[in-house]
Amino acid sequence: MRPSPSPDSRLILHRVTLLIAFFAAIFSPVPSFAADSPANRSAAGTHGMVVSESDDAAHAGVEILKQGGNAVDAAVATALAVGVANPASCGIGGGGFMLIYLAKKHAFYALDYRETAPLMAHPDMYLRNGKPDPSLSKDGILAVAVPGEIAGIDAALRRFGTMKFQQIAAPAEKLADNGFAVNPHLADEIAHTLPKLSADPGMREVFVKPDGSPAKAGETIYAKKLAATLKKLGDDPVANFYHGEIAAQIVSFMKEHGGLITANDLTNYRPIWRNPIKRQYRGYEVYAMPPPSSGGVVLEMLGMLDTGQLAGLGVNSPPYLARLIEVMRQGFIDRAQYADPAFVGVEIGKLLSDQHIAELRERALHRKAPADAPAAHDHGTTNLLVADKDGNVVALTTTTNTVFGALMSVPSLGLLLNDEMDDFAIAPGVPNAYHLAGERANEIRPGKRPLSSMTPIIVTKNDRPVMTTGGSGGPTIISGVLQVTLNILDFHLDAAQAVDEPRIHEQAVPDVVIVEEAMPAATRTALEQMGYKLRLVPSLGAVGALTMEPGNYRGASDQRKGGGAVGY
Ligand code: GLY
Repeated sequence: MRPSPSPDSRLILHRVTLLIAFFAAIFSPVPSFAADSPANRSAAGTHGMVVSESDDAAHAGVEILKQGGNAVDAAVATALAVGVANPASCGIGGGGFMLIYLAKKHAFYALDYRETAPLMAHPDMYLRNGKPDPSLSKDGILAVAVPGEIAGIDAALRRFGTMKFQQIAAPAEKLADNGFAVNPHLADEIAHTLPKLSADPGMREVFVKPDGSPAKAGETIYAKKLAATLKKLGDDPVANFYHGEIAAQIVSFMKEHGGLITANDLTNYRPIWRNPIKRQYRGYEVYAMPPPSSGGVVLEMLGMLDTGQLAGLGVNSPPYLARLIEVMRQGFIDRAQYADPAFVGVEIGKLLSDQHIAELRERALHRKAPADAPAAHDHGTTNLLVADKDGNVVALTTTTNTVFGALMSVPSLGLLLNDEMDDFAIAPGVPNAYHLAGERANEIRPGKRPLSSMTPIIVTKNDRPVMTTGGSGGPTIISGVLQVTLNILDFHLDAAQAVDEPRIHEQAVPDVVIVEEAMPAATRTALEQMGYKLRLVPSLGAVGALTMEPGNYRGASDQRKGGGAVGY
């Protein structure tokens, strides 16, 4: 029997309260999302675990763990391999965030290797005849920000790794050189972007067959030029990528195509070690990436929910979802205050304070009239999770932004270029690829990092990590990470069940609740009866999960995008 609403149910619209009896009558447990899961979509391990959106990459990470590497070594190997096997999502032309827990020191580290705006970039760079042209920040040479991937993984390895770069890059090089089977997700992305891929000589060579048709799921493709580039990085990848011959080729490509990135941009690029942020949630400590990540937004949302037992409402019950919607809306409104802290004073302490979060909870009682807008289709970005035998944990999210980034490559290097400039506000109020409206705090400045939705998190209890999660899919990362975390912490689902549960997404603007089709019809009807405007989508992003007890690791990749969990 469903318990009566707790006092904090003020969060729920009063209509919800009136309808609870009705919901109780129609509510039944939500079925699992994935019907035909491959055997390795979830796994158990006693010594370690790698969860990745690419099965090949998860195996690459475990190969490194088995060779004696630690979680940082394995995370880097996985990141490089997923850049080969899921090139629509990420790669050495992109950048990301790495959240690291070192068991021996019981310490957390946050590494920001997000791309930066080139030094020649400026707030008006996408205005044409006085009007913003959003296409310019999404596709083509002007969309490209200075890549941070190689500098980031090198910094992590130098500080915490145990192996040389070439040993760690070997599985990725093998995949690129010997070929790999196109997974269904990649096949889909190739098919969707075929005309653009065909127009780019470098991408055509890899993803398009000589007769002009797209590489299909299960077929083997080769990324020989990328393999050669990975080899050329040697054991000093920063010197070679940002200063040496590879840098020269990138700069000359930029010049030839009217791009902004110069040799100066590359030599000046630095990853940044930042202080992780954290907040209590029901006796757990949740650690997240600070700005320019949106990790703080997830912590704010958890803070708003930290007033009672969600479990009593039932996983994915209409009252629970109504509460989530209101909390997500407030969190996304606050997201506008997040940006690169080197350029904007983000008051993260205030945003995460009890007082501010109590105010947000109050505001969640009021809402604007829903507006309509399309849901963004995006499968860019990737997340991976690693735990090793010593209890070290890495949660890493990396991206080239939207599918196949700028849809341009440096052919001689097999280097796919990012379109991370689109994560900036190209003009106030102008939405980006994810329908996130532009805000002043996130306007373009030379050398600035765009605000990101990537939010890898690690959760501890009694000073020991108990779970980690992260995802891909633009702003749905924030809502997905929140829901998977609650599924584990409040509803006690295992990693696979937590990931499989259907999800919702609400980002305040547009004020429409995006709901996965797998959400039961009765639940959707109940939400509509509360006054929510719903938009159905086949799936929302991809979120992986890894739970940890001593000697018992459980991992699950998200079959919305594929991939695998490999334990050992
Ligand atoms: N490029 C996706 C994100 O960082 O949010």
